[in-house]
Amino acid sequence: MDRRTLLCGLLALTACGTGTAARRPGLGGARPGDRLAGLADVPVGSGALLDVGTDGQLLFVRPDADVVRAFDPTCPHQGTVVNPPVKGVIVCPTHRSEFDPATGGRLAGLAPRGLTEVPVTVAGDDVRLA
Ligand code: FES
Repeated sequence: MDRRTLLCGLLALTACGTGTAARRPGLGGARPGDRLAGLADVPVGSGALLDVGTDGQLLFVRPDADVVRAFDPTCPHQGTVVNPPVKGVIVCPTHRSEFDPATGGRLAGLAPRGLTEVPVTVAGDDVRLA
């Protein structure tokens, strides 16, 4: 193998990356009734950012064992993906706006409004788009 062939091979590998589709906040093409997550994927008393659909990502919160809510994790200030709740508060890592995990409502910070809720239902061990 000459240097040119080796260099082309390395460039091709770099261009291919890991093959994982980039995730964007949102439903990722999921439709009503689709399974978005497993109930066990969302810790009780906290939450998790989970991949949904083909390329989406939602923030799921679980205030108690039987209740799951989902939000578009896009911060309404400048679009940063917010973190799952810690000590009962969802915080944007960029400018520290705070949101209520029970409602998505804005509690403090530069965000002009709360997070957008995505309607979900729990069916057995699944969290589904309502
Ligand atoms: S981007 Fe979230 S508070 Fe600024």
